[in-house]
Amino acid sequence: MRMYDLIYTKKMGGTLTDEQIGFWVRGAADGTVADEQSAALLMAICWRGMDTAETLALTLAMRDSGTRVDLSSVPGLKVDKHSTGGVGDKTTLILGPIVAACGVPCAMFSGRGLGHTGGTVDKYAAIPGLQVELSLDAFLHSLRQTGFANSAQTADICPADRKLYALRDLTATVESIPLITASIMSKKLAGGADALVLDVKCGAGAFMKTLDDARTLARSMVAVGRAHGLKLKALLTRMEEPLGHAIGNALEVMESVAILKGLHGDSDLARMSLRLAAEMVLVGGGAQTLAEAEARVAQCVAGGQAMAVFRDWVTCNGGDPRALDDFSLLPGYSESMDVTAPASGVIHAIDSRSLGMLAMELGAGRATRNAALDLGVGITVHARVGQAVRKGERLLTLHGNGRRGNPLPETWITIRPEPCEPAPWLLETVE
Ligand code: URA
Repeated sequence: MRMYDLIYTKKMGGTLTDEQIGFWVRGAADGTVADEQSAALLMAICWRGMDTAETLALTLAMRDSGTRVDLSSVPGLKVDKHSTGGVGDKTTLILGPIVAACGVPCAMFSGRGLGHTGGTVDKYAAIPGLQVELSLDAFLHSLRQTGFANSAQTADICPADRKLYALRDLTATVESIPLITASIMSKKLAGGADALVLDVKCGAGAFMKTLDDARTLARSMVAVGRAHGLKLKALLTRMEEPLGHAIGNALEVMESVAILKGLHGDSDLARMSLRLAAEMVLVGGGAQTLAEAEARVAQCVAGGQAMAVFRDWVTCNGGDPRALDDFSLLPGYSESMDVTAPASGVIHAIDSRSLGMLAMELGAGRATRNAALDLGVGITVHARVGQAVRKGERLLTLHGNGRRGNPLPETWITIRPEPCEPAPWLLETVE
């Protein structure tokens, strides 16, 4: 088999066989296929696409390029969640303990942040002592002990994805529905869960800018998951502004803890986290209907069981649970600066990508893969789309430790005289 023929076939709009896809993925992972040939094939896939059978074959080949986690020693259906990511998205921190408190084992592998988006693993790292890189034994121990396990994805899971993703990043080939599907679903299948809820974000602040694209991606991922025996459902959610009020690692831990303690119950972030948790309880077999799952989730938060699981989980993984009640034990910041409204009117849009980049400049995110983080810094976003503001009113507060950003409220936050009704956070579901 020759890579040249695979590239030529795809360039001309043809279909690759399972064997050809397996040959490419194995070769990309073990270095026997040259990077330039993988890059050329990625670009051809971007332009020509892949049918469902090719996307399935790519997913399987990537899953099988590394270790597959075996969770079968833990009783019950294990449930996982994936979000296509967004600025301020801390839903994983909130819903993991809730799902576990509802009696459904929740097993997740998460990533680190890069560029304008933060990573769950970095947010956890703000909790003093908490271990975020677990061995498989420690992961299983946490799952058995607390009903919840969450660790950085280990290097031996889907090495082919890591290789191909790095090439995609360099060659402007990230935005391809079959490539995104195979990248996400191979890692989810390798992670060993039986059931999965997908949060596919849609809007200016997301990978998928239009509802059509988000729907196509959701359908593609659901089709691949179902073909491999996963119970799953996708929620298409709006991403037109940062999720919640906090951007930055320790700040996001504080906001998550407040929701787990039942505070901020009426925010978009709380509503989204609780709904995603309920969907996970439902696909994980912990309830018969969504209404029943939602009621259980609400009870576990109100009754303190979800917060109790979070404390147990932090303790089980080496962290200091006192930091969940005494935020002075979390990394902090030494200076704050308010950014105010340049005009009176109604907020129509907030450019979350630019706010994510600003948080990165303050030190909360990574410009390059190995950059060090300042876990205490970030941004409090006071403004919400649809809110009326007066000139001079506070829109953002920047929290720093010496590094300065350059906020541009005139271009990042659209204020117009006319009213604005924000779109609902949940756009549709795909099963
Ligand atoms: N997240 C992933 O893990 N892979 C992609 O291709 C895109 C988003």
